[in-house]
Amino acid sequence: MAARTIGTTGLRSIVVLLAFGASLVVSTSDTDAAERTEASQRDTIVVHADQDAQTINRNIYGHFSEHLGRCIYEGFWVGPDSHIPNTRGIRNDVVAAMRKIKPPVLRWPGGCFADEYHWRDGIGPREHRPSMVNNNWGGVTENNHFGTHEFFDLCDQLGCEPYICGNVGSGTVQEMQQWIEYITQAGHSPMADLRRANGRQQPWKLTYFGVGNECWGCGGNMTPEYYADQYRRYSTFVRSSSPVFKIACGPCADDYHWTEVLMRQCGGNMDGLSLHYYCGTGNKSRSATRFDEDDWFHLLQRALRMEELVAKHASVMDKHDPQKRVALVVDEWGTWHDVEPGTNPGFLYQQNTLRDALVAAVSLNILNRHCDRVRMANIAQAVNVLQSMILTDKEKMIVTPTYHVFEMYAVHQDAALLPTDVNCADYRFGSEKIPGISVSASRDKAGKIHVTLCNLSTTRSTDATCQLRGIKPRRVSGRVLTSPQMTDHNTFSDPEKVKPASFDGSQVTGAGFRVSLPAKSVVVLEVE
Ligand code: AHR
Repeated sequence: MAARTIGTTGLRSIVVLLAFGASLVVSTSDTDAAERTEASQRDTIVVHADQDAQTINRNIYGHFSEHLGRCIYEGFWVGPDSHIPNTRGIRNDVVAAMRKIKPPVLRWPGGCFADEYHWRDGIGPREHRPSMVNNNWGGVTENNHFGTHEFFDLCDQLGCEPYICGNVGSGTVQEMQQWIEYITQAGHSPMADLRRANGRQQPWKLTYFGVGNECWGCGGNMTPEYYADQYRRYSTFVRSSSPVFKIACGPCADDYHWTEVLMRQCGGNMDGLSLHYYCGTGNKSRSATRFDEDDWFHLLQRALRMEELVAKHASVMDKHDPQKRVALVVDEWGTWHDVEPGTNPGFLYQQNTLRDALVAAVSLNILNRHCDRVRMANIAQAVNVLQSMILTDKEKMIVTPTYHVFEMYAVHQDAALLPTDVNCADYRFGSEKIPGISVSASRDKAGKIHVTLCNLSTTRSTDATCQLRGIKPRRVSGRVLTSPQMTDHNTFSDPEKVKPASFDGSQVTGAGFRVSLPAKSVVVLEVE
């Protein structure tokens, strides 16, 4: 757990610094300069490179794709007859871009859509598949051209594990049981034979299965007591000869009572419990791209709340599961702004700025640090919906600042978490404050240490000193993601406005390294 001292700014700090004999002479009217001085005097990080007990499960870097707006259709799926280059209907450009960020797992088909989805509508010849209305997302017609076979093909092309969310809200136990049989049964059985008739001989490996989504809301408006009984019943029939990791629907944000009831009534029957937390948007503006520092500060403040949420849900889980057998699976998280002007409000298509990148980076630092209990997370969503990695416009494709964070942070996947202590100046806005920097660190299998650092302030660079306990570093190098304006983002006409650059702001010291973090930046350092 990171420790942090709460700092003071302005005149009082200057007096303190002078009292301790600081050689710098600072004008008392120059508060900014004083804050900079104070920050550089006090930002210290300790990385305990001698304590690598926990593994950062690669699934913390997981993704989510729902039949919502243009995520599946146009995002991943264009169909085999499209002029957009594709492999069996799946876009080649999107797959290639996603592969670069090493997606470990993909959740599908929802979200709220999952509890209205009937899997048998999405198998067999596409021209014979029935349509349905996507009631949750814009009331558009869903033609079911992307179904079970296409999803497993997508996972194969991405090189990731499948995570399917089943329908508890409007589906039967038999329907769920038959879906599992269709996917996993090796021998002859009615569903395995149907799968073969549809062109797939071998069963697929179903790695993760969610028993309902948001059963407290769009998944059926259930009480935790009622859902706990439903979970016991439905999950009994998630039967397969190969192990399937069963994930129960967990709480929304700070609903600790839901976690308590689920863990008490069926903690022993589940492998994971989900948590959904969207940190939302700005304070005054809901726009993804037009906002000021007030909006920046308050969105980051709400993103940092992830720390409290995972810690408190984990402590409820600890009461019932002290061995930490059950994983906390944060299978929906991210920002939620107004849709881009002129787009369908039901499609949740939003732009993505440097601010979203900072939200992703601080959230991933938190999830890394809680990897003893958090063993999967799925940012919402992969393409064209909410805090996306990728945006598409017909045949064009761009990657977002959030994508770059996932690419930079991929070094933490399956690495050993190194505990960190951070002593930093606060980032103050009006009468409020949040920690000025966010950090996590790990050691990979080749022995390299990676430290990811964020400077949350929009205006102030900061110099931090990092002690590496247990090793003597020889070399430090890194990359930085920042941009002149906090609202900067990539567009189809300017696709590389925000992208990582090499970083020369770090130097090895005897005990570790020193680093100069630019304002509003994300830095990844590699230490050898
Ligand atoms: O990600 C968009 C929606 O947010 C999901 O469908 C739902 O689970 C959540 O409320």
